[in-house]
Amino acid sequence: MSKVLVTGGAGYIGSHTVVELITAGYEVVIVDNFSNSNPGSVDGIERIVGRRPALVEADCSDYAQMLQLFKDHSGIDGIIHFAALKAVGESVVKPLEYYRNNMLSIINLLSLMKDFGGKHFVFSSSCTVYGQPDILPVTETSPLKPAMSPYGNTKKVGEEIIRDTVLAVPSISAIALRYFNPIGAHPSALIGELPQGKPDNLIPFITQTAVGIRPVLQIFGNDYDSSDGTAIRDYFHVVDLAKAHVFALDRLFKGNNRKPLEFFNIGAGKGITVLEIVKAFEKVSGVKLNYEIVGRRAGDIEKVWADTRLAESELGWKAVSTLEDALLTAWNWEKRLRGL
Ligand code: UFG
Repeated sequence: MSKVLVTGGAGYIGSHTVVELITAGYEVVIVDNFSNSNPGSVDGIERIVGRRPALVEADCSDYAQMLQLFKDHSGIDGIIHFAALKAVGESVVKPLEYYRNNMLSIINLLSLMKDFGGKHFVFSSSCTVYGQPDILPVTETSPLKPAMSPYGNTKKVGEEIIRDTVLAVPSISAIALRYFNPIGAHPSALIGELPQGKPDNLIPFITQTAVGIRPVLQIFGNDYDSSDGTAIRDYFHVVDLAKAHVFALDRLFKGNNRKPLEFFNIGAGKGITVLEIVKAFEKVSGVKLNYEIVGRRAGDIEKVWADTRLAESELGWKAVSTLEDALLTAWNWEKRLRGL
């Protein structure tokens, strides 16, 4: 059984990925500092798969803690690296915290892989590296744009650190998955997204408004170039995203990768407006949402969606869940959290 370290494995995307990895037969060690997650998600994972993964509470940006982890857990063959600070707005206010945390984590993990003989690295990247693309849908070879925030820059520089490392250290190969907008929760409603405080992202804001925690959803801008004027994103189910990580890791373990670092867009391949999301949510939940249109949010791009043909042909991965499925699982998760 191959042993995989999942950093941020108690977080939103991490916990769903751990479920899929264990189901696929990987032995998982989670490392998480619970800065934006909690151990309850590991209980959820255990209830879904019937087995509790090893869990280490440590900070990936702390080299001594990570060295200890590698000494305690020998034979880590692969790493899936989720652990990162990820609030775009906060990163503008606290750039040094973002660079320190997100860059040091990558450097520590790659250094320890090199020293301990780990081979395979899967990195959580983001469509943020494309900025506002000139041509849509965006392909992996589209030009990268200057990052719009320190957070976005940590993804861009993270890819560069990995690129330079795999060129210098032939024993390490890597895949960077550039996520579009993952949404939803596990169909069991045992794990899901747990934003701390006021959510930044659209779907948790919608579900919290629907249960009455938030009085009104603000829609940021209706003067964009789209059918209804609201911004376009590529939303897809987090369980599909979780499975993409298993496909990526399998590819590396089998040696099917064509280059030491490969990039794949991971999305549904379809652009959806904010108002279309609101309408679809109202339909699946039966709840009428209170919303208002306000001005654009600083730093938002107008529209982006993925060309996912490379992931399909090379990874054999495709998003299969519908938008309605994803929204329904998000809704069921929110209701379960609130005891409804
Ligand atoms: N939106 C609202 N109201 C809200 C929240 C969001 O109208 O309360 C709108 C946004 O303006 C945007 C869309 O809903 O048009 C999606 O917003 P999200 O914050 O959910 O997602 P983003 O696409 O802005 O951000 C996501 C990730 C970031 C990543 C970025 C890359 O959350 O981490 O994609 O493009 F950097």
